[in-house]
Amino acid sequence: MPQFAPLQNDTFLRALLRQPTDYTPVWLMRQAGRYLPEYRATRARAGSFLGLAKNPDYATEVTLQPIDRYPLDASILFSDILTVPDAMGLGLYFADGEGPKFERPLRTEADVLALREPDLGSLDYVFNAVTQIRTALNGRVPLIGFSGSPWTLACYMVEGGGSKEWHTIKKMLYSRPDLMHHILKINAAAVADYLNAQIDAGAQAVMIFDSWGGALADGAYQEFSLSYMQQVVSRLKREKDGVRIPAVVFTKGGGLWLDQIAGIGADAVGLDWTVNLGRARAQVGDKVALQGNLDPAILFANPDQIRAEVERSLTAYGTPSDGHGHVFNLGHGISQFTPPESVTAMVDAVHSFSRKQRG
Ligand code: CP3
Repeated sequence: MPQFAPLQNDTFLRALLRQPTDYTPVWLMRQAGRYLPEYRATRARAGSFLGLAKNPDYATEVTLQPIDRYPLDASILFSDILTVPDAMGLGLYFADGEGPKFERPLRTEADVLALREPDLGSLDYVFNAVTQIRTALNGRVPLIGFSGSPWTLACYMVEGGGSKEWHTIKKMLYSRPDLMHHILKINAAAVADYLNAQIDAGAQAVMIFDSWGGALADGAYQEFSLSYMQQVVSRLKREKDGVRIPAVVFTKGGGLWLDQIAGIGADAVGLDWTVNLGRARAQVGDKVALQGNLDPAILFANPDQIRAEVERSLTAYGTPSDGHGHVFNLGHGISQFTPPESVTAMVDAVHSFSRKQRG
């Protein structure tokens, strides 16, 4: 096991653990990506997104790009949630301009019953990237590992790609709940093992992306998404070499279920922009930290407007106090059309205004 350099900036980890910080830490979902010209240049050299993600040298290079450009407080492994179903043999590919697709989606009972947990060895490229990125970071900021939630992975596995309505998987959910639960059980075990292997490789926090939990009906959400995230969280290694590894869960569109999400044992809950941070803080109390939640579209406004929206959001959260924690982020991934200067304005506004708030 490699020895890593000591951490120089632990503000992000402290906020997740609801410990006092000098300012509000900030990172962005999809912070390494197409809005950065340096990312587009590396991707062109790699030939494709998967060529990038499956090569630890390239993955390290692009993970560090936003860290070199902005004073962000955390880095996130450059990879994708769909590496896990790819390793289960579903055949991930990207059709130009159409997003991710699977060659062999789970459509029949026989498909579902043949599903197995992946051999973690076939995901070594991810764990090698984690170790290489953590080494290259040299302690500048913590490294976040991540996975999709069991439900969100199932959405792509059954549907065969992205969808607005998710009719194929919802038909399975309502007509064959037994098959749905069979997939989710396997996914939950796979996700827990996958995240634990990232922790072993050097991830200092982990995040579960439940991008499509918000597409579910009340009741179905709890049964088919939340309960499986709870299983994952309960199986995670929460400590490595005596240091706590915080876990963040993020259901996009999950604001109405915040109480329940805060109760599954995670250290922090991610929020999208439909939620008021002050009300969310009052609701969760000192049970969990919060992460979010600026509308990514605000980054299309001018720097003064971005600054004003950041201040509004930090004011809504209020002055941090003992037992509470806030990590500033967007409410979902940054758009590929974002001007890079907008991120400069946002990060600067978070740091300077949150210091002022603390007096
Ligand atoms: O945050 C980061 O910087 C880390 C990298 C990261 C990617 N995908 C890289 C990526 C993370 C955390 C993800 C998670 C992911 N992937 C989610 C959950 C978060 C969310 O956005 O809801 C989901 C649902 C996916 C599946 C996925 N992968 C989609 C829908 C797409 C197409 C997106 C698009 O904008 O076209 C991808 C591809 C992908 N994953 C890209 C990146 C940078 C774009 C690929 C490219 O370079 O062309």
